[in-house]
Amino acid sequence: MSLFDLAGRRVVVTGAGANGGIGHALAIGFARAGARLALCDIDEEGLARTVEETGAEVFARCDISVEADVEAFFASVREKLGGLDALVNVPFVFSRRCPPHELPLADWERMFAVNVTGYFLCIRAALPLMLAQGKGCVINIGSNAGETALGRGAFAYSATKSAVHQMTRELAVEYGARGVRVNALAPAQVLTPGLAAHMDNPHFRDNVLPRILMGLPMGRLLTPEDMVGPALFLASDAAACVNGVILPVDGGNLAMNAGGGAPR
Ligand SMILES: NC(=O)c1ccc[n+]([C@@H]2O[C@H](COP(=O)([O-])OP(=O)(O)OC[C@H]3O[C@@H](n4cnc5c(N)ncnc54)[C@H](O)[C@@H]3O)[C@@H](O)[C@H]2O)c1
Repeated sequence: MSLFDLAGRRVVVTGAGANGGIGHALAIGFARAGARLALCDIDEEGLARTVEETGAEVFARCDISVEADVEAFFASVREKLGGLDALVNVPFVFSRRCPPHELPLADWERMFAVNVTGYFLCIRAALPLMLAQGKGCVINIGSNAGETALGRGAFAYSATKSAVHQMTRELAVEYGARGVRVNALAPAQVLTPGLAAHMDNPHFRDNVLPRILMGLPMGRLLTPEDMVGPALFLASDAAACVNGVILPVDGGNLAMNAGGGAPR
């Protein structure tokens, strides 16, 4: 089982501060697998809790859309961990859900600044550490919304996730021969605090949620913990030749066509 062994691997998880979020679950999952962690978030209180739970050795308030923050964070990763084996990019902004023709430019720009530029900045800072050791991997958190359309005012968010998927493929091709693999997880709807907050809204509960569930052949929302196994796999030597893959972790959402559905 050494193929799956992550003990001692140095792993950065960005956006690890939201209790109940995917970043938090991934940080705990990597810690339980024995990885040495470096974590960052803009939410300092949340980050402090995750650091306590995981024993992360490096942590910082870092806005991934700010170049100086990212450079400083990865400099401390280099100094304290001496290298980097995996970068997991998690944060996102979904600043406003509204019809595309009403979306303010500032919202469009903020979503791209965090969801796309932020991932680029972190990858750019991580790559020299990985290239120096001839080995490493990046796991971007994408979305089923990067492959198919959600509607419901999600078009800018979806465009950022498509950009993440295509960035993943391009980087995989650029760096595969130098030992750095780049993959993405594409979750469907995950029951995070963000989604749970909508459950009190009768329109969401009665109209939107049933449609979401119809698109999930396993008949339930995903959980943040559902992301852990696939992420550990992608970071491990078991995935040594998995490169440039957008791995759906969606209970079958992308596999199903509009007329599909499990027998009930
Ligand atoms: N929740 C879902 O249903 C779902 C579905 C598909 C894909 N995803 C993707 O999964 C990822 C995680 O989503 P989640 O809902 O679990 O979020 P989450 O609850 O893990 O929160 C993301 C974290 O990112 C932090 N963050 C936000 N902006 C930041 C910035 N500029 N710099 C640093 N940190 C920042 C937040 O403080 C938060 O702690 C996102 O990339 C999202 O697009 C989520």
